[in-house]
Amino acid sequence: MVKKIAILGSTGSIGRQTLEVIESLGEQYKVVALAAGRNENLLGDQIRRFKPELAALSDENAAARLADKNRNSGCTFMGGAKGQLCAAVWPEADLVVMAQVGFSGFESLVAALKEGKTIALANKESLVIGGDILKRLGLLDRERILPVDSEHSAIWQCLGMEPANSVKIARVLLTASGGPFFGWKEEELEQVTPEQALHHPNWQMGNKITIDSATMMNKGLEVIEARWLFDLSLDQIEVVIHRQSIVHSMVEYIDGSIIAQMSTADMRLPIQHALTYPERKKSRVEKFIPFGKTLNFYRPDRKNFPCLDLAYRAIISGGTMPAALNGANEVAVAEFTGGRIKFTAIPKVIKQVMDEHEVKQDPGIDDVINADSCSRRRAAEIIDEQMGRMI
Ligand SMILES: NC(=O)c1ccc[n+]([C@@H]2O[C@H](COP(=O)([O-])OP(=O)(O)OC[C@H]3O[C@@H](n4cnc5c(N)ncnc54)[C@H](OP(=O)(O)O)[C@@H]3O)[C@@H](O)[C@H]2O)c1
Repeated sequence: MVKKIAILGSTGSIGRQTLEVIESLGEQYKVVALAAGRNENLLGDQIRRFKPELAALSDENAAARLADKNRNSGCTFMGGAKGQLCAAVWPEADLVVMAQVGFSGFESLVAALKEGKTIALANKESLVIGGDILKRLGLLDRERILPVDSEHSAIWQCLGMEPANSVKIARVLLTASGGPFFGWKEEELEQVTPEQALHHPNWQMGNKITIDSATMMNKGLEVIEARWLFDLSLDQIEVVIHRQSIVHSMVEYIDGSIIAQMSTADMRLPIQHALTYPERKKSRVEKFIPFGKTLNFYRPDRKNFPCLDLAYRAIISGGTMPAALNGANEVAVAEFTGGRIKFTAIPKVIKQVMDEHEVKQDPGIDDVINADSCSRRRAAEIIDEQMGRMI
């Protein structure tokens, strides 16, 4: 049977690799809907190649131009938030790949889950913001949210060897490469440029996640993601630095046995695992055995990389605090990437937004949307008022 797939965020790093994997898997996989932000040229190429039934851009003008240029394609075109939601619940799709960046994926994820869709989830920010709500709505079903993040895919694969009802996890060991500034101290981090931070040693990714990896916020977001995906308490999640990115995460069982997942650092593998689940198929990913390598693991430096603890604080506070953390982080990262604030200002802005945020417990969807927009506004104000401009 043909598996029909919708991809949101198709023009990004994960979206493009998903299309590559679909092409390599052959005719049993078909793209039925594609959605992205504003990259009309690339989406146009993807439409011609994959012939989806629906194409959507959140930028209304870009969507109108795209529709105009592809008038005879037989594809339906949509713009704005409505187009994204339509792609998320596209009736023909058996699987929805959520590969948008940041908060932009949140409402689509909720809509797709409510519609009963199975999700291949890369967009971790949505789960950070809305994990609590999804849990209360009974929508956090492990069989319906298939992780794409390499660490969570690794945990999923390690758990997969156990019958679901007898899983006895002591801890998950979430590995982190440590990013380009592992071992750097605050004085050195003060001088970091966007170009340096955008150069990840092991992974080729979109800009936002690359900066998040450099600040360690990415790992903080992943701790929250793991908490919701696998229904773990925070003391069951330990972050370990593993510079080599060979082990992608581990599960320690109550008997002391640790099961690790290893592979080349290549996102096409976890993407493919989510697409083909419950089957495994051959992949084009380079196979390797780490002959002659000693696997090294270190504790994270929480003092010089305070974003990790900010994420822990957000999930401990609960309610709307993770949305405040995420909104402030998205603004601070964009301001740093644009060269307007220092690398070390990122956690300071987020901390101040969190200090001022009035947490609403048991939030509804509107509450987290509101927390997101308030924290963005406040982060922008703090940057204007206090941080001083680099340029
Ligand atoms: N890249 C990785 O290796 C990796 C690994 C693990 C997890 N993830 C997660 O996967 C997600 C995507 O990461 P990425 O690296 O692929 O990001 P990316 O390369 O920056 O791509 C982001 C995608 O989101 C779309 N987008 C941006 N703003 C949007 C909006 N307002 N509405 C709808 N779509 C919008 C972009 O569209 P346009 O380009 O058309 O504007 C693009 O298709 C993130 O949550 C990230 O944390 C990524």
